[in-house]
Amino acid sequence: MDICVVGTGYVGLVSGVCFSDLGNRVTCVDVDESKIKKLLEGKSPIYEPGIEDFIQKNLNEGRLFFTTDLKKAMESAQIILIAVGTPRKQNGEADLTYIENVAESIGQNLQDYKIIVTKSTVPVGTGKIIKEIISRHAGDVKFDVASNPEFLREGSAIYDTLNMERAVIGVESEKAANLLKELHKPLTSNIVLTDIETAEMIKYASNAFLATKISFINEIANVCELLGADVTKVAEGMGYDKRIGNAFLQAGIGYGGSCFPKDTSALVAIAEQAGYDFRIVKDVEQVNKEQRFKVVDKLKVALKNDLKGKKISILGLAFKPNTDDMRDAPSVDVIPILQNEGAEVVAYDPVASENAQKVIPNLQVTDTMQEAILNSDAIVILTEWNEFKEMDLTEVARLVKQKIIIDGRNIFSIEKMEYMKFYYASIGRKT
Ligand code: UGA
Repeated sequence: MDICVVGTGYVGLVSGVCFSDLGNRVTCVDVDESKIKKLLEGKSPIYEPGIEDFIQKNLNEGRLFFTTDLKKAMESAQIILIAVGTPRKQNGEADLTYIENVAESIGQNLQDYKIIVTKSTVPVGTGKIIKEIISRHAGDVKFDVASNPEFLREGSAIYDTLNMERAVIGVESEKAANLLKELHKPLTSNIVLTDIETAEMIKYASNAFLATKISFINEIANVCELLGADVTKVAEGMGYDKRIGNAFLQAGIGYGGSCFPKDTSALVAIAEQAGYDFRIVKDVEQVNKEQRFKVVDKLKVALKNDLKGKKISILGLAFKPNTDDMRDAPSVDVIPILQNEGAEVVAYDPVASENAQKVIPNLQVTDTMQEAILNSDAIVILTEWNEFKEMDLTEVARLVKQKIIIDGRNIFSIEKMEYMKFYYASIGRKT
């Protein structure tokens, strides 16, 4: 098939690269010239393990193209995938400016029948808006709109796409249904075929449900602490029940990233506009906001409320491992508090330091974990990178001033920490 992908962010680039790897001819378009220049050299503008090899391979094999020229890119395409950003507006709603601009450009350049598919996460009803905008500009040219939400995770985006658990296809015509089913055939046999509004809602419901699981287990963790129970065992015990499942029951300092915070507040706003007060998701957001400060409280207990002049080593800045994404990362809220209390904060992250310095003022970073923890009064773990899970605790004990670890991601066993004689505080466990 011939596919045009508009937007080379996470969703657009990964989808484009994967569809081309399956043998389709894919042209990715972006208005950002510097991004396109990089991509044409085989370099990725996003950090995603393995993606550059995929880009290079498909460029070399002549199936993958990058351009800033939408008109040319869509000329021969049967399918146009819209994968531009839908950032959060101040009032919590999703901002559709980029989507609307793309729909207008597509309408202006439409010469023959195409299926215009929205991959971006968009409020229920956006498919109709896109159809209306394109119709306004396309004259008599026939086209279909469709919704095909994306469920990939940052850090494992290529794996998630090539091994997708389901494809959700929201359509208005049989022609569009058949073509999109054909496109997804090599990826999954679980195809959920529905109308556009339902497909749009599936995306929000899925992300809000996953966020709910996280806030739920974090509240269980908070109660476990008060009662002397261990949340990791509680989660294990719950997870064997197939109706519950063991995924997304890892207690910690809550979720971040570009999706859950934005999509939960968009769902609340969508419901509100429809006249419904979505109480559960509002509480999920509130619990998540408070949860990230647990490490600050625990650090203060460990250092007897006196952070002034103390060297605090932050391990992990990105919102989760295997990404350099700092959007809504707990570190962005936690670090300024410690700095304001007079602590000397030194941070290390395997890949996110540069991005972190753009969003956290006066952030001191190091090139290695060892430098960050040298003469440290306390280590605070904010992201569960493998490098931290595998740290040599004997070496750590030798480098630090005080053997204090505040673990926001529960990466160590309590027994090990007791054996190594560390002061160790984690989330929802006996410490
Ligand atoms: C999430 C969804 O998992 C994807 O299915 C979806 O496509 C994507 O949003 C999106 O809408 O684009 P992502 O934000 O990349 O993907 O990251 P996740 O791996 O889902 O993690 C989200 C956050 O939840 C992270 O901050 C992580 O630390 C936290 N989390 C996750 C927990 O605190 N506990 C858990 O048990 C699982």
